[in-house]
Amino acid sequence: MKGPDPRLAGLLRAAARARARAYAPYSGFQVGAAVLAGGRVFAAANVENSAYPLSVCAERNAVAMAIAAGHRRIEAVAVVGGEGQPAAPCGGCRQVLSEFCAPRTPIAYAASGGGAVTTTIAALLPHSFGPADLLRAAEPGSRSSARGLAGIRRTAPPARGTRSSARRRSR
Ligand code: THU
Repeated sequence: MKGPDPRLAGLLRAAARARARAYAPYSGFQVGAAVLAGGRVFAAANVENSAYPLSVCAERNAVAMAIAAGHRRIEAVAVVGGEGQPAAPCGGCRQVLSEFCAPRTPIAYAASGGGAVTTTIAALLPHSFGPADLLRAAEPGSRSSARGLAGIRRTAPPARGTRSSARRRSR
């Protein structure tokens, strides 16, 4: 049997370090996440806001760092959150991670100072929706191709104040 992915131990340490910098004054629940992309580690914490729904999870902040650095593939993920019991990534973060991960990408999550649960993105988010679903819908001949990606762009009303709506009014 294959042992745990050796990259996960280092990622868990990076996630634990990032967790210490969490801004979580409202929930008091600190989370750190680290993703491996292009051989580099990107680590971040959750950042809450006084307008509560604007709070951002640690995983999404770490993904944003990797993407902003130019990467498009995430090779492994670690998350550290919770006390005693490891807290698994929330549903929204599973979706965001799956955009950039292969199904078998390893992910470890652990409580602070506790043992890690090791799994894969596909196991955390089975039957997921992804970029392939949109591309399939846009293929010529698919039932929804008339309203595929290009169609959506053609038919969407221009936003107010955009140049195309301003031009139309001046005609
Ligand atoms: N949180 C994360 O950072 N990642 C998750 O996967 C679940 C939840 C954060 C969001 C919020 O700041 C706090 O934990 C409590 O929900």
